Amino acid sequence: MSLLHEQLIETVDFIQKQSNAKPTVAIILGSGLGNFTDEIVVETRIAYNQIPHFPTSTVEGHSGQLIFGQLDGQSVLVMAGRFHYYEGYSPQQVTYPIRVMKLLGIKQLILSNAAGSVNPTFKVGDLMIINDHISFFTPNPLLGPNENELGPRFPDMSEPYNKELISKAINIAKQHNIEVKQGVYVGVTGPTFETRAEYKLIKAVGGDVVGMSTVQECIVAVHAGMTVFAASVVTDLGIRDEENTITHEEVLQAAKEAEPKLTLLIKELVKTL
Ligand code: HPA
Repeated sequence: MSLLHEQLIETVDFIQKQSNAKPTVAIILGSGLGNFTDEIVVETRIAYNQIPHFPTSTVEGHSGQLIFGQLDGQSVLVMAGRFHYYEGYSPQQVTYPIRVMKLLGIKQLILSNAAGSVNPTFKVGDLMIINDHISFFTPNPLLGPNENELGPRFPDMSEPYNKELISKAINIAKQHNIEVKQGVYVGVTGPTFETRAEYKLIKAVGGDVVGMSTVQECIVAVHAGMTVFAASVVTDLGIRDEENTITHEEVLQAAKEAEPKLTLLIKELVKTL
C-alpha cells in the first residue's frame, strides 16, 4: 500500500472514531460563505488541526473545521474552510480532504467559491453555476504515480460538473426567483489578483470567471468517481473601465452579501440528492 493510502486510512480511522455518521453528500464552503454552517444541525465538529495528516487552513474567512450534521434532515459533511495552492500546499495536499471524503463514502460533492468575472454580462453578487473549467494555469493534482485504488490513470474530464445536478440547480433557481448564470471557471494559483492583461487573457481562452480554488478539488473528486456540482459567487469584475483595484476585503464582503442566495440553492439541491 502506498504512503498516501496508509495516511488516508489513518485519517479516516480518526474521523470515524469522532463520528459514526455516514453522509454521502459533502459541501466545501468558499471564501465568505462560512455562514452556511448556520443551516446545519451540527452533530460533530472536528478542527482541521486535530486531524492526522490534514493540512491546516490559514486564510481569513475560513474557519478550518470538518462538520458532520443534518441539513434539513439529511446527513451531510461540510468543510468550513479549504486548502489553497497559494498557501504553499502541494496540489496533493490541497486535495487530500477529497480523498478522505471518498473513503468516508461521499458520493456527491458540492463546491462553492468566490470568483472574479471576466464576462461583461455578469455583475458583482451574481451566482454562476460552473459548467466546465480550465485547469491549465495550476498543476494537475493527479501528476505523479497513479493511485489505482482511487481512480484511473487517465480520467475522462468531458463532464467534470454533473449535468443532472446543473439542471436541477437551474430549476431550483427558477422556482425561487434567483437569477443564475452558467459558465467556465478558470483556476489560477493566486495569491495575486490578475493584472488587466491577465483578465483579458482569461476571457480570451474561454473563461467566464477566475478563482484560486475548486479546480484541483474537482479533478480529484472526478478521478475518484464522485459527482461534482460547483457554484461561484462573483465578487469582483476583472474587466472593467474604472481604474479601481481589488482587495480581499471587497471579495469577502461581496461573497457575504450573495451568501443567502447560494445557501438557498445548495440547501434545495441537497434535498433532491
Ligand atoms: N481573481 C482570482 N481569484 C479571485 C478573484 C479574482 O478576481 N476574485 C475572487 N477570487
